[in-house]
Amino acid sequence: MIVPPDTVSLSDYEQHFTDRVDPAIRAYIAGAGADGITQRANREAFDRLRLMPRALRDLSRASARATLLGEAMAYPIVVAPMAYHRLVHPDGERATATAAALTGTWMTVSTQASVTLEEVAATAPNNPLGNQLWFQLYLRPRPEDTLALVRRAEDAGYRALVLTVDAPVNGLRNMEQRAGFRLPADVSPVNLVGMALDEVVASRPGSLVFQGMLHNAPTWESVAWLCAQTRMPVLLKGLLNPEDVDPAIAAGAAGLIVSNHGGRTLDTLPATIEALPFVAAKAARRLPILMDGGIRRGTDILKALALGADAVMVGVSVLYALAVGGVAGVAHALTILQTELEVAMALTGRARLADIDRSVIFDPPRS
Ligand SMILES: Cc1cc2nc3c(=O)[nH]c(=O)nc-3n(C[C@H](O)[C@H](O)[C@H](O)COP(=O)(O)O)c2cc1C
Repeated sequence: MIVPPDTVSLSDYEQHFTDRVDPAIRAYIAGAGADGITQRANREAFDRLRLMPRALRDLSRASARATLLGEAMAYPIVVAPMAYHRLVHPDGERATATAAALTGTWMTVSTQASVTLEEVAATAPNNPLGNQLWFQLYLRPRPEDTLALVRRAEDAGYRALVLTVDAPVNGLRNMEQRAGFRLPADVSPVNLVGMALDEVVASRPGSLVFQGMLHNAPTWESVAWLCAQTRMPVLLKGLLNPEDVDPAIAAGAAGLIVSNHGGRTLDTLPATIEALPFVAAKAARRLPILMDGGIRRGTDILKALALGADAVMVGVSVLYALAVGGVAGVAHALTILQTELEVAMALTGRARLADIDRSVIFDPPRS
């Protein structure tokens, strides 16, 4: 896998991915819920925001180092949890984790990873640079299966749990359906071998969705139960509504991830960069806030930090880079984002992440 020399931005990786990857796999990876309105909104909302430059500030000691959950990180960037990296690379999550470790980027491994969580951890252990691996969890129908995953993640050295709360039922993935996407025989959720499936209880009276698919769906009590089972911090991923902040804190969450699942679940949800300031205001620095959805440029990261995020997650672009360039592609893509963030900080005169506040966003004077 050789990264084409004209690949200089994350959108170049997207273009090369589109040119190369099988249409059904493409529909799964790049696809969105229903009509893709939220997925597009994630990008459009970033593009509408303009930045206010600052000239001639002293940047001689500038740095984009961050602190998250009390730990230092090289850049405020975490790889988002994504299922089935082996769809686009034979080493799957191992390749992504190697690239993340090489670039000092923390990474979240999905419950639905196509490589076992132990193999990923063995490839890219938490290292002296402080790189962390996090494990993303969907609560299993049987609590003992959830606990088994939590213990395995603890034993393998994962440092936090990311509990995804915005997908108790799958989004309507019309693009995947039209393309006829099916998991290839050699790609599967290997962490879940032997566990009970999310059975659809079709025989129950009532709605297939409510009494069928959601008959066992998690609630705030399940979150409190999970937080009490582990010493790992538990971050909740998939919140957009400020009304969910207090219940999350009451249940024991250590952090919140403002996310609409990259537009893959409920279509017409708002763009995450638009929801972020409301969630951040409600949280009032009681716990760290991350966001994802549409991050493609260092300027997007700067905007997210300005509007209340402590760090961002990067999703589908990482898979684009993995498909196009393997380990080198992902390392290159993450380095591009890091460099772009530094350039954006320099040209807006912000020497530290702590200097990035709302005043970095250009507010046109109202006439
Ligand atoms: C192919 C793919 C698979 C995903 N799988 C998961 C998953 O297993 N668990 C999860 O919490 N989020 C999953 N997500 C959502 C991402 O974690 C993240 O919220 C989203 O991709 C961020 O938006 P972006 O892709 O625009 O960066 C997935 C996203 C993609 C593109």
